[in-house]
Amino acid sequence: MAIQRPKISILGAGATGATTAHWCAAKELGDIVLFDIVEGMPQGKALDLLEAGPVEGFDVEVRGTNDLADTRGSDLVIITAGQPRKPGMSRADLLSANYRIIRDLVERCLPLSPEAYFLVLTNPVDVLTYVVKKVTGLPRNRVLGQAGVLDSTRYRTFLARALGVSVRDVHALVLGGHGDQMVPLVSYANVNGIPVSALLSREEIERIVERTRKGGGEIVELLKTGSAFYAPGAALAEMADAILKDRKRVLAATTYLEGEYGFSDLCLGVPVVLGGGGIERVIELSLDEADRDALRVSADEVRAQIAELPERL
Ligand code: APR
Repeated sequence: MAIQRPKISILGAGATGATTAHWCAAKELGDIVLFDIVEGMPQGKALDLLEAGPVEGFDVEVRGTNDLADTRGSDLVIITAGQPRKPGMSRADLLSANYRIIRDLVERCLPLSPEAYFLVLTNPVDVLTYVVKKVTGLPRNRVLGQAGVLDSTRYRTFLARALGVSVRDVHALVLGGHGDQMVPLVSYANVNGIPVSALLSREEIERIVERTRKGGGEIVELLKTGSAFYAPGAALAEMADAILKDRKRVLAATTYLEGEYGFSDLCLGVPVVLGGGGIERVIELSLDEADRDALRVSADEVRAQIAELPERL
């Protein structure tokens, strides 16, 4: 048998889906199928991206489709289909509409790709990752959500700019749900091992934490129509890279918890080891009281949204 490249299917070829395809192709992570319900649009975007190959030097297949059957045999299914958040619209408002879209898509997708990992982006991501976990019945290592990589990269951006240092040297984690109650950890944020608290004032750090929490909303307000897509796409590609190249990266991922951090039967952003086995391990950090309390508030927010789902799972 000829050796084959990994197959990545991206459901939803909108702003984030197409940008994810772009980053994944540029990194040569695998052959890409871009699926959407809008006729011609995924085909057009896929062909356009494919035609960048000779300039950028990537040798991967990029194909657009309106037929879910073309996703057959995927190693990784990335879910970005759904309604975008509009100004003034809360993540919770999106719940009902996106629940039906995601449920329908994964129910049809799983039989086509029974071995796939499922990576969810569509908001509210904590709840929809939970929906995918429940609807598919897959073990938790194969279903994860993207939020923490994006929130952490925003946090790292703001810290690096405040410090006037390279983004490469700033390491930081954001835990919890992908809402205003997310938990940017201060005690673990560092510049090549130097705690940020040794380099920035408490007030500056607090301002950065607040800006991180509202990072998605800041972009929505500026764009007026639609929400962020460059950094979300880059975050998805980083997670895809970790899985498909078995890198065993330590990243924050929206994960179905089974007692870790004192929570079960909900999905929340926690640090994990991400590799060829998907979520290979959840890392349980010791948290100070303020962070523990903040994580509880965030978990309560996610639980409240799960309770609002139109159907019990
Ligand atoms: N099947 C496939 N694609 C669908 C379906 C469906 N049932 N329903 C909607 N879509 C597609 C839309 O046609 C659109 O192309 O999903 C795409 C969503 O793209 P955008 O509207 O550009 O939204 P985007 O900015 O990419 O955000 C996608 O991520 O941040 C979250 O909340 C945001 O849910 C949104 C998602």
